[in-house]
Amino acid sequence: MTTLDLFGGPAEGDRDWMGPQAVILRGRALSCVDELLDALDAVVAQAPFRRMVTPGGLTIAVASTNCGALGWTSDRRGYRYGGLDPAAGRPWPAMPACFARLARQAAADAGFPDFEPDACLINQYLPGTRLSLHQDKNERDFSAPIVSVSLGMTAIFLFGGLERGDRAFKASLYHGDVAVWGGDDRLRYHGVMALADAPHERLGSQRINLTFRKAG
Ligand code: SIN
Ligand code: FE2
Repeated sequence: MTTLDLFGGPAEGDRDWMGPQAVILRGRALSCVDELLDALDAVVAQAPFRRMVTPGGLTIAVASTNCGALGWTSDRRGYRYGGLDPAAGRPWPAMPACFARLARQAAADAGFPDFEPDACLINQYLPGTRLSLHQDKNERDFSAPIVSVSLGMTAIFLFGGLERGDRAFKASLYHGDVAVWGGDDRLRYHGVMALADAPHERLGSQRINLTFRKAG
């Protein structure tokens, strides 16, 4: 396993490449983090975090909600994107302008101009929560990248290959980092190791991940 950390961690503005078309933009969200967190509070007030169930009937450890025209959901009938929050029977909250702007600009920085996300999955990790290796493949069009914003506690991200069994390397994702993967790297397996409880000064014992996709 390769670790991208340097002593003392990366500096804002650093780019750590995980593949030819996969990069971590260090601290890319920091300049707008106050706006992001206010907007996040407003979204979560309308569409609270909830733990979804897999088609196999297991409760997913990560708690989720969505904003944007489409939201990702899982239940006994499968994984899918839909326009309605099933818990409320109404549309997902609109995507805040600062979310869309950051996603668009980070994608462009990473070599994907013209990214227009229509979905933002918001995941909440508590200490001990992990996300097993998976591909993001419920989207209709794989030509658009995935843009993933980390907030709060540090996570160890696993970034593997195109096959589940391929070696994955580890990269720490810090508050404010934005990871972008697309093109030939779009379908690489990825996951998050069980979160250690090292409370974040602003967000406490949680990590929030915003994942932007072009789903429809
Ligand atoms: C995801 O794969 O959907 C989330 C990745 C992360 O939390 O960093
Ligand atoms: Fe994912």
